[in-house]
Parts: sequence; C-alpha cells; structure tokens
Amino acid sequence: MKIYADTSKVEEIKEFFSWGVIDGVTTNPKIIASDGNDLESTIKEICRIQPGPVSVEVTTNDYQAMLVEAALYSSWAKNIVIKIPAIPNGLKALKSLSEKRIKTNATCLMSYNQALLASKAGATYVSLFYGRIGDLGFDPYIVIKDTADTFRLWGCKSEIISGSIRSLLDVNRSVQAGAHIVTVPPKFLRQMIDNPMTTKTVDEFLDAWKGMQKR
Ligand code: E4P
Repeated sequence: MKIYADTSKVEEIKEFFSWGVIDGVTTNPKIIASDGNDLESTIKEICRIQPGPVSVEVTTNDYQAMLVEAALYSSWAKNIVIKIPAIPNGLKALKSLSEKRIKTNATCLMSYNQALLASKAGATYVSLFYGRIGDLGFDPYIVIKDTADTFRLWGCKSEIISGSIRSLLDVNRSVQAGAHIVTVPPKFLRQMIDNPMTTKTVDEFLDAWKGMQKR
C-alpha cells in the first residue's frame, strides 16, 4: 500500500517526505493553477526533492499534442509519469506512450469500464476518482474493489490510484477496497496523524515526567 501527496506545494511535499511515509506525488492542471505555481520549475523541483513518481497531466485533449507534451515532460526528470485523461484520444496516447515505455497515469476515471480500457491500453496507473464517483451516485468502494479483483484475476499490471479524496474515510475505504495507492491532499495527510486525544495524552505523559524530575 502506497500513499502519494496530491499537491504541487513544494514545502509541504518536503515536509511529508521527511515523515518517511510518502511514496510519490500527483498533480493536475487545476492543482498547479490553484497552488499558483509555474508548471516546469515546480515539477522539476518536486522531482528533485523526492525520488518517487511524479504525475504531471497533459493540458490538451488532442492526441498528437498529448504526445508532444508527454515527450517534453518526460525530458524534465526520470521520475515523471504522464497523466492522460480517460477519453478515446487518451486511450490512443496511453497505447503509444506505453509502447515507448513512458510511464502513464490514466486519469479522471469514473468507472470500472474506463479502468479496464485504460489498463488494456497499457497505463502504468489508473486513477479512479473516489469523491467524484460518489457524486455520480455510485459507490466508489465497490468500483475500486471490482477493479482490484479483476486486475488480480487477469494479472493486469496497472496499479490502481484512488484520488479525489475528501475525507479520512475515503482514504480508509480506498485502501480497504484494494487500491494500490491513495493520493491524499495535504489537509487530510495532516489529519491522518493529528489527533487531539493523542496530543493531550502525550502532553499529560510529559507533564508527569517533568513533575517527577522536580521532586
Ligand atoms: C488525482 O490524481 C487528482 O489530482 C485528484 O485527486 C483530483 O481530485 P478532485 O479534483 O476531485 O479533488
């Protein structure tokens, strides 16, 4: 089971990696835009500060243009993974890139069927969007579980990433459903470790220790 950071904030990524429990990073054009970052310099910096896979998404739905962007992004660092949207042109691009042995992350997947096709096209990772699948009225736990069971049954090599995380329950259910990776926004990564009762208990123990030292 792996955990990625779903962010392009370099300082936060540095901190999460220093915890020793983060295995990679995912970004998308909306994350880059809302974090207010320059794409090239930010992605290069993220690839430099940590060795895990870094997903960077194409900004076009045109097949040829996807390949051009993929070639450019792949030249930035060895640990780049190209995120390709789950649309017909995306399948074509996934196939071409897998033939060139470029690592890919099929993204914006809302269904089991899309995961099957993306895996058939050679995607290294398939990203099922937990929160958004729920918005559509489907149970994302079942979608991930069915996909994981089928990949196991048929020996499909693609790894399942659960994205679009909106709560700690989404993280837990993704892992329990069989996602190989959960990509978690900073807010929830912090919530995974922070617990007021832990803080209170740790303080209580330290206070008792200090009290004893004074005796
Ligand atoms: C995953 O790789 C995506 O970056 C992601 O988690 C997007 O989800 P959201 O836009 O629903 O938050």
